[in-house]
Amino acid sequence: MVTTRDLRERAGEEPITMLTAYDAPTAAIVDEAGVDVILVGDSMGNAVLGYDTTLPVTLEEMHSRTAAVARATEEALVVADMPFLSFGVDAAESVENAGRLLKEANADAIKIESGRHTVELTERLTRVGIPVMAHVGLTPQQVNQLGGYARQGTTENAARDLIELAIAHQEAGAFSIVLEHVPANVAARVTDELSIPTIGIGAGGDCDGQVLVITDVLGIEEESPSFSKQYADLRGEMARAVEAFKREVESGEFPAEEHTHVEEDLGELN
Ligand code: KIV
Ligand code: NA
Repeated sequence: MVTTRDLRERAGEEPITMLTAYDAPTAAIVDEAGVDVILVGDSMGNAVLGYDTTLPVTLEEMHSRTAAVARATEEALVVADMPFLSFGVDAAESVENAGRLLKEANADAIKIESGRHTVELTERLTRVGIPVMAHVGLTPQQVNQLGGYARQGTTENAARDLIELAIAHQEAGAFSIVLEHVPANVAARVTDELSIPTIGIGAGGDCDGQVLVITDVLGIEEESPSFSKQYADLRGEMARAVEAFKREVESGEFPAEEHTHVEEDLGELN
């Protein structure tokens, strides 16, 4: 079993792999492939729940998906995202919400989109035994505040703020930190400054690990960010299967004899 301690020890040694999953069969595939961390990301809002942003994702949705992923995972560390407004409003409620993802849904850790306001919460959570993965750079829950999904940390001042924020979360007890959509040289600098592992997405090759959204990797999404890489064409594969089913039902080719059972012993009914 991969632990938060394993990941801390891996920083700078061996690249860490992380992928999202939102359901049991996908989690089992990711787990069996030996990926270190499975993130039940609030990217599920866009990826599987049909929302335009991650903002509508509820704690209940995260809870149910995390439980499904945890049931199917044997080796990987399961990290659950804290959805928009499930943290950062009231401290006690934030701890309770994070706690439910561990106690009831069986996550091993939670991830929080970080800001100045989450330093104290990170300390509080780690103190009671809830491991925290921090997340800086582009934080999609701030899309309305930011006015889009642009790259972050692109000026000297912004980069300095980002480095300070990352350090503050390390000091607060975070075991790892996601760097999303920041210049590669800024991510390299953060990785240098921190002892905890950095896991990048759109943050270049000098992070301690890499994370991608599974539906981008598998080619289920119609459109993916430019920093992502598509390793399969499942959208095309799924469309071909569905079209073949429809064609065969309409032509009478399905069900064939091998899919059909006739009961001989029905007496008068036969
Ligand atoms: O929700 C998510 O999938 C994430 C990753 C992109 C890091 O936060
Ligand atoms: Na997320």
